[in-house]
Formats: sequence, structure tokens, C-alpha cells
Amino acid sequence: MTAILILNGPNLNLLGIRQPEVYGTTTLADIERDCRKTARQLDVDMDFRQSNHEGVLIDWIHDARQAFDGIIINAGAYTHTSIAIMDAIASVSVPTLELHLSNIHEREDFRRVSFVGKVAFDLIMGHGAKGYPMALERIVSHISGKT
Ligand code: DQA
Repeated sequence: MTAILILNGPNLNLLGIRQPEVYGTTTLADIERDCRKTARQLDVDMDFRQSNHEGVLIDWIHDARQAFDGIIINAGAYTHTSIAIMDAIASVSVPTLELHLSNIHEREDFRRVSFVGKVAFDLIMGHGAKGYPMALERIVSHISGKT
């Protein structure tokens, strides 16, 4: 069965109370529940993780090499700073989708730079919490060769 790893970076554990005017009021637990529902509908396995630590995210990306067919990553602010996360994604050769709740191209200039984007096959952003199930559908269709 196809297995997808969904990774969430720093501060995303505070979704629901963190800058709701930017990120909405849906919590990460709500998002995980939605993703599990979508994964069931798509008949895929899914693992959903969050860490505030760059090295932990890198270790999890390495895990994907053995156990997962695709990675969806919302790397939070590490998106804009972490060459190490970019290198980890490039090292494992697992198709990776970049995901953001907000539209990072319509915010501060420093958010326009994405190191994750340099190694991801696609980007979903600006759809808030709904972007997560959308990302699952997109990556499953990519892996099955349909898009
Ligand atoms: C984010 C956008 C990033 O710029 C920010 O640092 C985040 C969340 C998003 O989902 O919109 O932490 O990745």
C-alpha cells in the first residue's frame, strides 16, 4: 500500500491559537483527523508528525527512504532558511510536495525564498487547512503516475 509521510515544522503545533488571522483557527489535531479521513478514502497509509527541531525533521526525512513513497512537508520557517532540510530531501529521492497554509508569495519578501521548493515536485499554498487533504490527493496522483 502507498505510504505518505506528512511533516510539520516549527510552531505548527500552535495552529488554532497562532496568528489566526493568517493561519486560521483549525488546530493541527483537526488537520491530522482530516488527513486520516482523506487517506482512508484514497486507500493509502499515512504518518503525520510535527517537530520544532530541524534535526528531528531531517531524521524523519531520512526515515522516508525506507518506509514511505512520498513526503508532504510544511517546513514552517525552515522553508526559508534550511539548506540542511533541502539537502535531506534531495538525498532520499522520495517525491516531495511543499505545503503551506498561507500564500508565501504574498507575504513578506523573506518568505518568497523557499529552499524546500528547489527540491519539491510541486507546491500547494494559500488554501489554509484544506491544503492538507488537497496535498494528499495531489501526491497520490503524482505517485500513481496520473499527474
Ligand atoms: C507557513 C509559512 C511560513 O512562512 C511560516 O514561517 C510558517 C507557516 C505556512 O504554512 O503558511 O510557520 O509554512
